[in-house]
Amino acid sequence: MTFPKNFLWGGATAANQLEGAYLEGGKGLNLADVLPGGKVRLNLLSQAGFDFEMDTEKYHYPNHEGIDFYHRYKEDIALFAEMGFKVFRMSIAWSRIFPNGDELEPNEEGLAFYDRVFDELHKHGIEPLVTIAHYETPLHLIKEYGGWKNRKLVEFFERYVRVIFNRYKDKVKYWLTFNEINGATHMPLFGLGFSPTSEETRLQESFQGLHHQFVASAKAVQLGHEIIPGSQIGCMLIYAPVYAFDSNPENVLYAQQEARIFNNFCGDVHVRGEYPSFINRYFKENGIELNIQDGDLELIKEGTVDFISLSYYMSRTEKKNKTPEEIGEGNLIGGVKNPYLKASDWGWEIDPVGLRIALNELYGRYQKPLMVVENGLGAYDKVEEDGSINDDYRIEYLRDHIKAMSEAIEDGVDLIGYTSWGCIDLVSASSGQYAKRYGYIYVDKHDDGSGTLERRRKKSFYWYKDVIASNGEKL
Ligand code: BG6
Repeated sequence: MTFPKNFLWGGATAANQLEGAYLEGGKGLNLADVLPGGKVRLNLLSQAGFDFEMDTEKYHYPNHEGIDFYHRYKEDIALFAEMGFKVFRMSIAWSRIFPNGDELEPNEEGLAFYDRVFDELHKHGIEPLVTIAHYETPLHLIKEYGGWKNRKLVEFFERYVRVIFNRYKDKVKYWLTFNEINGATHMPLFGLGFSPTSEETRLQESFQGLHHQFVASAKAVQLGHEIIPGSQIGCMLIYAPVYAFDSNPENVLYAQQEARIFNNFCGDVHVRGEYPSFINRYFKENGIELNIQDGDLELIKEGTVDFISLSYYMSRTEKKNKTPEEIGEGNLIGGVKNPYLKASDWGWEIDPVGLRIALNELYGRYQKPLMVVENGLGAYDKVEEDGSINDDYRIEYLRDHIKAMSEAIEDGVDLIGYTSWGCIDLVSASSGQYAKRYGYIYVDKHDDGSGTLERRRKKSFYWYKDVIASNGEKL
């Protein structure tokens, strides 16, 4: 296996999925706090018209408690250190720093919490990799301003970013701006913090929201370089190579067009600092007209990212005229069922070769350092009578994906790190379940609310420790 000497091995999480303590330390409510657990969440995420109200009689809200990382971070970080993590990906919950999002002064208690977390990581020699916005827009900004559709959010975001860069300038070197920014056209609720007014307005509102995020991200890159010399600020894409279902040129063309919109558009703006020419036709055909203010395009040009990070869970297979029966059940980003691939218990198609393809596509297009900051298998785990958790299926999944990364490095890709998703079990983003587990560390917490929150090492914990210790040699 060919991993560079300083390869950044680690794990990834997001504040809203693990911290809990949703009203402690002066934190305000955010998007994840009003998303119920269970199947209903997925429906809300994909439909127009969600009202962002909580209904505790009807639903439960697992993100309120998460896995209580807020109080247990020392124990958890010690476990990451035991595995040999070089890096830990986490996010800052914006509403811990600015509870409503539009205040002028930050909340000191929130800032102090992340100081403690970063100090603890450094104590163990672990580098933090911080996502600035990971599906947790302050609820007030959603309700009062309509989320990222509203230009005002650029200003609020800039204030938030200035505060955290100044505060953590000696503690955090690696930053990511918007988690899975390109997922917005499929699920604006998550990344852009609004529910489309109607199906007809979905695209117009989403691309306008994306434009605001491009401006905000470019500003963040500039500020980061100014305030934290030597910092590395990356973008974050959900990347799914798009295969044509067969060699019918119509399907190949269709797959290519879908890939451009989904995989390339946001990356091109972030990395090249320009709107790509192919988007003009798409905007025209879909009646999208962006409100771009003076200076926006210059800012976007000046604030290009230092590296590209991606989440990789699945590929996508496309066909121009698909029937409802052909549509892949669990593929949240669309496409038809790929007859060559098996799927997880949630219907997510498993395709390690697709990761090699993804890395080659991205590096071929941009020649910028890449980091895989999410990848993993959501699965049901069983605790045996002796307390062990033998998650061989997870080891197999991760092994195959790590091999694919090593092949990509052999292919010439500049890959600098890997943080697998949900290194400790946490609340699933799309389904709000605890039962969909990704971790090397088991957390005793269940969808009916029961559980002691006790942490337990799974078989994969010991396996990943060896992978890191051998720099990917021992798989
Ligand atoms: C990514 C998100 O899309 O996928 C994470 O950035 C999320 O927040 C991860 O948890 C896995 O998805 P899920 O729905 O299985 O939790």
